[in-house]
Amino acid sequence: MTDLSVDLAGVRLENPLIIASGILSQHLLRRCIDAGVGAVTTKSITPKPMEGHPPPSIIDVDVGLINAVGLRNPGIEAFEDEMRRLVEYAHGRGVKVIGSVAAPSIDGYVEVAGRMEDYGADIVELNVSCPTIEEVHSMGSSPKTVGRLVGEVDGALCIPLSVKLSPELREFTDIAEEAISSGADILSLVNTISPATSIDIWRGEIRLRCPGGVGGLSGKALKPIALARVLMTYREMEAPIIASGGVSSWEDVVEMIYAGATAVSFLTALLKRGEPTMIGEMLRGLRNFMERLGFGKVEEMRGYALRKRS
Ligand SMILES: Cc1cc2nc3c(=O)[nH]c(=O)nc-3n(C[C@H](O)[C@H](O)[C@H](O)COP(=O)(O)O)c2cc1C
Repeated sequence: MTDLSVDLAGVRLENPLIIASGILSQHLLRRCIDAGVGAVTTKSITPKPMEGHPPPSIIDVDVGLINAVGLRNPGIEAFEDEMRRLVEYAHGRGVKVIGSVAAPSIDGYVEVAGRMEDYGADIVELNVSCPTIEEVHSMGSSPKTVGRLVGEVDGALCIPLSVKLSPELREFTDIAEEAISSGADILSLVNTISPATSIDIWRGEIRLRCPGGVGGLSGKALKPIALARVLMTYREMEAPIIASGGVSSWEDVVEMIYAGATAVSFLTALLKRGEPTMIGEMLRGLRNFMERLGFGKVEEMRGYALRKRS
C-alpha cells in the first residue's frame, strides 16, 4: 500500500501538500481542505491590522505573479474567531493548520506566535521574508537577527516552529543554519524573489501601485531557484523543509521531495487556476508515480536525487 503521509517535525500530515501563506479567504481555504491537502497555511498575521499596499497589488505575468500585497490582514485580535473556525474545520477533516506570523519587532512575533498556538495552530511559521515590508524582510536578512528572533519565539512555544526565508539572501545557508541551531524545527524555503516589476506599455505605467513599484515574483520562474535552495540546504543540514516556489504539478512535487523537501507548498498555481481541482490531480499523480517506482512511503523519496549522485 502506498502511504502518502509525512512526519513534519513530529506533526503528521495525511500527505505532503500544503497551501502556502497568502490566502485570507476562508472559503478558498476550506475548498482546499475539502480537496484533500495535508495542511493549510494562514495569511501572515501581524499584531495590529495592516492595510497593505494600494491595488493593483497582484500582477499576472507569463512566468508567475508579482505581488506587493504588503501583508494586508486584520491583525491577530480580529483574526481569533476566523482562526478558531478554520482550525475546527481543518481538524475535523484530518488537515493541519500552520499559523503564519509577521511583525515589526521581536515582541510582536512572540505575541502573535503565542496567540496562534492558543487558537489551535499545529505549527507556527515566521515570515521573515516579505519583500515589500522592510521591517519584516530585515528580520530575516542576517544570521544574528534570525537567531535572536527564533530563540525568543521558540522559548514561548510548545508546537513546532518554522522559519520562512527569502531566496535571494547572500548568507542563505548561514541564516538557515542559525535558524535551526536557535530552535527552529522546520525551514520553509522559499518566499517570493525580489525585486520584480511589470510595465503596461499602452498606458506607460508601472503596473504595481505600491511605493517604488516593485514586488516579489512567485510561480514558474521561481521554481528552479527554490529547488536549488532546497537541494543545497538539505545537503548541508538535513533539517525538515517545506519547499515552495512555482509548484504546479505532481512532477514538481516529486522534484522538490527528491531535492530534500519533507512537504511541498504552493500558492501561485492555485491562484492562477482559481480553483483547487489541481490538488486531487497532484495527489493522484504522486500516488501513481510512487506505485510505478515502488516507493512505499514519501520519506523514501526524500533527497533521492542527492543519494543517487553520491
Ligand atoms: C498573492 C500572494 C500573497 C502572499 N502572501 C504571503 C504571506 O502573507 N506570507 C508569506 O509568508 N508568504 C506569502 N506569499 C508567498 C507564498 O506563500 C509562497 O511562498 C511564494 O509565492 C512561492 O510559492 P508559489 O510560487 O507556489 O506561489 C504570498 C504570495 C503571493 C503570490
